[in-house]
Amino acid sequence: MSPAEAAERVVALTAELNEYNYQYYVLANPSISDYDFDQKLKELENLERLFPQFLDPDSPTQKVGGDITQRFTTVRHRWPMLSLSNTYSEQELRDFDVRVRKAIGDDFEYVCELKFDGLSISLTYENGLLKQAVTRGDGVQGDDVTTNVRTIKKIPNRLRTNGYPDLFEIRGEIFMHRPAFQRLNNERIENGEMAYANPRNFAAGTIKLQDSSEVARRPLDCFLYFLYSDNRNRLFSNHWESLMAVKSWGFHVCEHTALCSSIDEVLAFITKWDKERHELSYDIDGIVIKVNDYGQQEELGFTAKSPRWAISYKYKAEQVETIFHSVSYQVGRTGAVTPVANLEPVLLAGTTVKRASLHNANEIARLDLREGDTVFVEKGGEIIPKVMGVNMLKRNPDTHPIVYPSNCPECDTPLIRKEGEAVHYCPNEEGCPPQIVGRMQHFIGRKAMDIEGMGDETIETFYRHGLLHNITDIYKLKDQQDVLIGLDRFGQKSIDNMLTGIEKSKEKPFEKVLFALGIRYVGETVARKLAAHFKDIDTLTAASRTAIESVHEIGERIAESVLEYFANTTHREQLEQLKQYGLQLALVEQKVERLGDRLQGKTFVISGVFEQFSREELTALIEGHGGKMLSSISAKLDYLVAGDKMGPSKRTKAEKLNIPIISDQDLLDMIA
Ligand code: IVH
Repeated sequence: MSPAEAAERVVALTAELNEYNYQYYVLANPSISDYDFDQKLKELENLERLFPQFLDPDSPTQKVGGDITQRFTTVRHRWPMLSLSNTYSEQELRDFDVRVRKAIGDDFEYVCELKFDGLSISLTYENGLLKQAVTRGDGVQGDDVTTNVRTIKKIPNRLRTNGYPDLFEIRGEIFMHRPAFQRLNNERIENGEMAYANPRNFAAGTIKLQDSSEVARRPLDCFLYFLYSDNRNRLFSNHWESLMAVKSWGFHVCEHTALCSSIDEVLAFITKWDKERHELSYDIDGIVIKVNDYGQQEELGFTAKSPRWAISYKYKAEQVETIFHSVSYQVGRTGAVTPVANLEPVLLAGTTVKRASLHNANEIARLDLREGDTVFVEKGGEIIPKVMGVNMLKRNPDTHPIVYPSNCPECDTPLIRKEGEAVHYCPNEEGCPPQIVGRMQHFIGRKAMDIEGMGDETIETFYRHGLLHNITDIYKLKDQQDVLIGLDRFGQKSIDNMLTGIEKSKEKPFEKVLFALGIRYVGETVARKLAAHFKDIDTLTAASRTAIESVHEIGERIAESVLEYFANTTHREQLEQLKQYGLQLALVEQKVERLGDRLQGKTFVISGVFEQFSREELTALIEGHGGKMLSSISAKLDYLVAGDKMGPSKRTKAEKLNIPIISDQDLLDMIA
């Protein structure tokens, strides 16, 4: 390669890698596989070695990666957060072993750990209390996300045992278990919110939220794998001992960790987990191999970016090549249009893949996808496989870029794109068939009205026969039995069964009805909160923006959507009809289970987030013991139960009024 060619390639690779880093660290939405990224990085490293004149101090090869954002305080790490050099090949791992042996001889052990696919975090503890949690950032400084991290139940705010140093830092990986990811992501899709591509992005997006109570709602977990303290070497002689100790202090340490006395044992561990990793409830992307002994670690030392005593072996994400035939555009209940790639069926990670997600128009443009292209399809943590890129060597030059439709593929209405959103929407709520059908299917769903004897197909069939146009029609079906009996596959028994199911749905509580309406961004939790606060539909319909936003954890976006929904006269007419059919459009005061009367006559306000209890649980506890909840702090209040992240104005107000501020533990003591 001539120097001119090398210079050109260095510039191109640098631009490409910077863009991928931005997508990965800032947008938390990578568009390239780790493997391909690492290959490109290695290519750049090689070129820079061969042509040092082109090495830019700002080159992506000189960075550890960076995710510092504007919204959090930037904190300098006491000990820099280094990355690990990584490899995908057995040979390179054996080379690493040879290097280690040359430096420290043959008498040593490795600790093998899973490489968790989450985001790394550094926690500082002082006298057994969590003081600070900082993201990796660029390795030198990161974002202070302490308030959010305090809501993670698996990270102790206070250590329970003794024996830990007065001041230490512990590092680990925050992640989300796959089942929780799937449940919450489905909830987001149902609510018309942006779906996350994989658990790592969900965890990364969560830790960077401004609203800690939303963080508390999303179950994050954290495995700890590294201890730093000034007196570490006096307390422990090796990494393994430190892992056992931190476990006893109350930290979550992964049980799948092994001591290995040879590189062959390490390779056996790698092979075992390549097969078994799919059975774990969380994603791993490789194995981390660390020299165990602290003294030997010191002997080996560090390069500028990573320790010489550790390496990570990364598993290749399963990827295949196949032919991309066409794009289908699916219109969901909220009108959001999702492009899906139709592929030549291909076997990938044990299943036949025919379709892959393309997300939105930007993604299609980024891939520069063309019909007939050979594409790379990958299955990582995602449920739906993803098109990662096009094999340009196999491109037919006579092809043209895909033109994203300007009109709805279902009803031909011009599509719209909201400012700042990547997704196209069909605004024809009342006339677009998949939206009409989707809304009714959502209404009867298990988490909503849960109508027995009626399924998604029933709704489609009835819609096609002109029996259903909107949710209120469901309650008119009982007057159409003569038509129903004439339909294929509907016997009297199934009709009776369905009509009983419809009647029974009238008993569903207000919060379920509210959720069933399918208001964008009003998922189960939000519906529960709105129902509890406003008590009935008339009060909610009349509520002002300020009133809606004053509900705990309800923000601008949800308030806007609720206002928009109730401003629509069709929706209001439908609600009037549902009321007449006898649906529960007001809260029925729940009888409180009586547990005791220690709090009789006392009033309480709960604020903040709690490690052991949800707010609902605390309310039940207070009311069960005869206490009464108040909605705001006033002179009438007896106690303010305060958790983490309580607003400072509440504290000031309570202090001014001389109202005792108590913890959840104080409350337990009062009723014990
Ligand atoms: S040890 C100096 N152990 O991988 C050693 N890292 O490329 C520091 N990671 O930033 C890291 N699982 O986010 C270590 N068991 C494990 C890990 C692990 C995942 C991540 C971590 C780190 C990156 C290194």
